[in-house]
Amino acid sequence: MSTKKITIEFPTGSAGYDITIAYGALSGIGKWARRSLSKDAARIAVVSNPTVFKLYGEQAVEHLRSAGFDVFVWLMKDGEVHKSFRNVERALDFFAASDITRTDAVLALGGGVVGDLAGFAAAVYLRGIAFLQVPTTLLSMIDSSVGGKTGVNSAAGKNRIGSFHQPSGVLIDTGVLKTLPERELTAGFCEAIKHGSLSGKKLLEQISAFLEDYRTPDLASNFDDLEFRSRLDEMISEQVSFKASIVQADERESTRRTDARSRKILNFGHTLAHALEKVTDYKYFKHGEAVGYGIKYACELSKTLALIDENIVNLLNGVVHRAGTLPPVSKLDPEEVFEAFRFDKKLVAGSLQMILLKGIGKPVIVNGDDIKRSTHIRALKKLLNQ
Ligand SMILES: NC(=O)c1ccc[n+]([C@@H]2O[C@H](COP(=O)([O-])OP(=O)(O)OC[C@H]3O[C@@H](n4cnc5c(N)ncnc54)[C@H](O)[C@@H]3O)[C@@H](O)[C@H]2O)c1
Ligand SMILES: [Zn+2]
Repeated sequence: MSTKKITIEFPTGSAGYDITIAYGALSGIGKWARRSLSKDAARIAVVSNPTVFKLYGEQAVEHLRSAGFDVFVWLMKDGEVHKSFRNVERALDFFAASDITRTDAVLALGGGVVGDLAGFAAAVYLRGIAFLQVPTTLLSMIDSSVGGKTGVNSAAGKNRIGSFHQPSGVLIDTGVLKTLPERELTAGFCEAIKHGSLSGKKLLEQISAFLEDYRTPDLASNFDDLEFRSRLDEMISEQVSFKASIVQADERESTRRTDARSRKILNFGHTLAHALEKVTDYKYFKHGEAVGYGIKYACELSKTLALIDENIVNLLNGVVHRAGTLPPVSKLDPEEVFEAFRFDKKLVAGSLQMILLKGIGKPVIVNGDDIKRSTHIRALKKLLNQ
């Protein structure tokens, strides 16, 4: 088993941590947790959901116990709607009932929903205790487990309540992707394409070649192939490196920064994604699928503004296409989607900050309000096949 390690360090003084990536890494979770936590850590509260726990939970708990930890398991219901305050409260009550102290830790075993909620609960329990991330979806491996954003949904909107709370370590077992449903893989690949578009040709070509060589619908059939495993580990580790490089230089997503390496650029494709999710009541798209459409939209706008040419648009549309089938959008109303852009406006000084491209690896932050309404509507109609 070859292991890759990426170290994230913050110039701000926040503690850095390692992201460990290996096929089969779960078998080393006990020793890894020992290395990642302070020597006083005695108890671990594992947060997961029934779907993931049934597949990988017992194995993880057994290895943690063998490493000498007292382990307590709390399962939240599966699904985005359960990333709620109510469940944070339940998790906190569970930590208290399990006598988790300030030297102990919370460990998230699951996708981004489990990771975001568990991280937030760890951030507020006893004013913040250690937190370990063991992401089990492609999206959570390459995106949500790295960078310290934690939070829950509320009446105010999705992810409107949360905190920055960096994990003490991230353990990625790429082997668990074997059981991940196809739509979740497509969603994760769309975020990977987002990273490729922002980083530059090398990362984009890597994900593009991977998707050409291994088709998403039958990805699971490749897991016995050693070359596939090594390509998968390599791809995930390059993705994580890119995300780490951005977040370590702008840990808390400074509202003032507008440069090409600010953490805000990671919102590439997200203005439209959030609007699509909102008009469909967060029930129709997987988040990453909506990002797939968002990338296409950002490319179309970038071309209309003469920032990039048709070749780059075609290139990126082609890679998104290879990520898998996206849910049809022809029934959505362009005007309604446009109106939903407003929602993102509330975030920074009432302006719509959109991330566009001047080229592969060359993001620019533009004010979406400077783009004419008619330009948005025309691009939306094209995207929605109308
Ligand atoms: N914190 C951040 O920086 C950040 C970044 C991006 C997204 N997010 C958040 O992440 C969430 C989305 O995360 P997600 O895409 O991982 O979805 P998810 O956590 O809902 O997981 C998707 C589904 O896959 C199942 N699953 C997980 N691992 C599995 C495995 N190995 N085998 C079989 N099934 C498995 C889950 O039970 C779930 O049903 C959203 O809430 C989003 O807001 C956070
Ligand atoms: Zn996203």
